[in-house]
Amino acid sequence: MARVLVTGGAGYVGSVCCRRLLAEGHSVEVVDDLSNGSAEAAPASAVLHQIGIEDREAFSRVLEQGRFDAVFHFAAKASVPESVVNPGPFFDTNVAAGVALLETLRAHGVRNLIFSSSAAVYGTPQLVCIPEDCATEPVNPYGESKRMFEEIAKSYVTAYGWSVVGFRYFNASGGGADWGERHNPETHIIPLLLQAASGRREFFEIFGDDYETPDGTCLRDFVHVLDIAEAHLLAMQKMNRPVFCAYNIGTGTSHSVKQVCELAGAVTGRPIRTRIGPRRPGDPPVLCASPQKLIGELGWTPKHSALENILAGAWEWEQKLCRQLLIGESRNSRSS
Ligand code: UFG
Repeated sequence: MARVLVTGGAGYVGSVCCRRLLAEGHSVEVVDDLSNGSAEAAPASAVLHQIGIEDREAFSRVLEQGRFDAVFHFAAKASVPESVVNPGPFFDTNVAAGVALLETLRAHGVRNLIFSSSAAVYGTPQLVCIPEDCATEPVNPYGESKRMFEEIAKSYVTAYGWSVVGFRYFNASGGGADWGERHNPETHIIPLLLQAASGRREFFEIFGDDYETPDGTCLRDFVHVLDIAEAHLLAMQKMNRPVFCAYNIGTGTSHSVKQVCELAGAVTGRPIRTRIGPRRPGDPPVLCASPQKLIGELGWTPKHSALENILAGAWEWEQKLCRQLLIGESRNSRSS
């Protein structure tokens, strides 16, 4: 069994990976500054160190106490639109703090790294299903920050003999009764649509219906977070070899924004009001993975990623959030 350090383990994807690791009998420690994640999301049986990865002294103390076999690095900023209007923090967190992490790991002899990259590294590829050897030409600062970190990590493989896997996530999504996506502010399509279904939001705005796609709206490849977690577990088998491997995590099937709206209405049984708005800067029209490398080399299969299943789980989570809000409101009205 492995000892795994998980950065960003209190976040959406990181916390799910922690639970999968624990379920397989691995031991897990989490490093998270809770700037995006929440302490409740991190599994109770994992030690939580509330520090930032850029804090080399504090991070060194964690590494001194545990001899980790591998590090899963999720801690990052991940909103495309935010990165377009305010790119500085994206380079600061995803690149500068990432380098601080690599250097602290190097100082402590940890050489096995699995990290979250993104489909955003590809930009606007012309291919329908993008393979990993497609050119990386990001069209937004978020994608650029991920591409830069990939290159930096690659050089640690060449120079120091590290073993590194970079996962290029397509649209990570899904949830369940007790877990799910929660960003502040929320910018992602599925939680926003479900907020419109539950009544927390008046309408859902479709960002552009004049793209060169079948129905004019963008196409995305949605992949369930449980399938993403599975890929991370499979990648642990790749460790201890001096290679850099980039893998797409996506299904090879894409859905348009309009199709997701319709399916969300059907799954929730609620009417969802939509409005057409202007295009959102930084959005590539089509992003769809070729998952063949991940399937062929790691034996991965997306078991949970049917869009109906993703929406059904995310809907359970939205309903739980609504119940929590109601309880909070009734407490407030009683105490005032
Ligand atoms: N969208 C809307 N209205 C909204 C929100 C989103 O129409 O209110 C549209 C977007 O314009 C886009 C699609 O829904 O066309 C998906 O948008 P998201 O914000 O949910 O996700 P992104 O595709 O922008 O980004 C996500 C991840 C990135 C990853 C990318 C790869 O956040 O890390 O998927 O597909 F790079």
